[in-house]
Amino acid sequence: MSSTLNAEIYLDTNRLISPISPMLFSGFIEHMGRAVYEGIYDPASPHADPNGLRTDVLALLREVNYRAIRYPGGNFLSGYRWLDGVGPRDQRPRRRDLAWQTLETNQFGTNEFIEFCRAVNTEPMLAVNMGTGTIQEAANLVEYCNAPTGTQYADLRASHGYAEPHNVKYWCVGNEMDGPWQIGHLEAPEYGAKAREAAKMMRWHDPSIKLVLCGSSNTVMPTYPEWDRVALELAWDQVDYHSMHYYAANRENDTASYLALAAEFESFVDTLTGVLRYVKAKNRSRHDVYLSWDEWNVWYKATTPGVDFQGGWKEAPHLSEEVYNLEDALVVAQWMNVFLRRADVLKIACVAQAVNTISPIHTTRDAVLKHTTYYPIMLFSRLANGAALDVAVKSPHYQTQKFGDMPLLDVSASYDEASGASAVFIVNRSQSESLPVTLRWQDRAPQQISAVHQMSGSDPKAFNSLENPGVIVPKSITPPVVQDGRAEMLLPPLSFTVIETCL
Ligand code: AHR
Repeated sequence: MSSTLNAEIYLDTNRLISPISPMLFSGFIEHMGRAVYEGIYDPASPHADPNGLRTDVLALLREVNYRAIRYPGGNFLSGYRWLDGVGPRDQRPRRRDLAWQTLETNQFGTNEFIEFCRAVNTEPMLAVNMGTGTIQEAANLVEYCNAPTGTQYADLRASHGYAEPHNVKYWCVGNEMDGPWQIGHLEAPEYGAKAREAAKMMRWHDPSIKLVLCGSSNTVMPTYPEWDRVALELAWDQVDYHSMHYYAANRENDTASYLALAAEFESFVDTLTGVLRYVKAKNRSRHDVYLSWDEWNVWYKATTPGVDFQGGWKEAPHLSEEVYNLEDALVVAQWMNVFLRRADVLKIACVAQAVNTISPIHTTRDAVLKHTTYYPIMLFSRLANGAALDVAVKSPHYQTQKFGDMPLLDVSASYDEASGASAVFIVNRSQSESLPVTLRWQDRAPQQISAVHQMSGSDPKAFNSLENPGVIVPKSITPPVVQDGRAEMLLPPLSFTVIETCL
């Protein structure tokens, strides 16, 4: 590893990648484990509002500022009967959820989710069941949510207390239908055709909706990326986004490679970008489809097969309650760097998930904890506004087992022309070396750096707990001076730094 070289970051507001879609900062809540029950909805908590929503969780979700939240699954979706979750609560059935082997009480359903989204000030992103569900049931749900009263399902909504349509704009057409684990799994030609027909009916109810097609569940699926091509060719003109899912892991405890995972994330986006271009050309289409990375996160510690994936037919079992550490937060930060660097094609991204299950937020009955990953998600969501800058970076390199030679620095930047606000997001992947870095503003320089937020630590495995919640949190550090369009900083090893300026 080279430690003597200076790193250089070149910024120029004429060098833009694309506007940053605010929907890149979105979340996901599934009926899985304690995400819904005991997560966002917990009437027994001292923090519950009159609707049973956790006010302390709502406050954190507002702080993170998720622009949309995807619901109700996930694998749960593919066995879900949406009519179970609407209407008088005492008449809703208790059912076995086969995806997570959990007892589902249906006390929280579509209308409660819409109320929750309003309380958080976020867009609902609903998903329709393409496993056991029919295209008719999918269309009925759009009618229930978005049609004016006067017909069966809209009137049913009104009878449940919602005379005005919910106007849900974003809809996922199924979930991970490529996966043999999925209830009602389909092969690509069958899924592509079913999704197209569902999408047609859904749009006929409301032509303004935006639809997301199921892409590959991860890059190791034997059907990847052929699944994507086949499904897209069949449904292209009926959908607006194509989904990608990926969960990152450090199973071999190879931190050097783990910290270089942006290479893998970028190559996933590159491959699907190629598929999108190919299908658009092959279909002779003028229509564009963008990417929706609607499940992404670190997930590998709380996944003991046969234990964590199965709820033992209990209500709200503790499933996949991942405890995140410093290295996980650095992986999350560079994942979001990739969102900015590929903002031309990536338009939606949902952290999976938002509370308790594979989540940056953990609840007990009376307390909440912010895991390490909470902070990069919140910083990007609040500060990455406007357009993504095409940053030029000169960085020393280091060796990794999985990706070979990789730069020590992973960088992205945003610039909001309207306000002048700019932010630079930098991960130092080195586990041992502080790295001197020079920021060079090429076309226009700030007078000063307004703020620097930095997370770092010497132990990549350090984590926050209810007893010690402040082990890995961002600290405000003294901004370096800007002189002649340049600023010099020393970035500590294992660090994530956000530099705020006004240009
Ligand atoms: O988010 C947890 C699960 O991961 C989802 O239910 C599924 O879509 C994915 O495999």
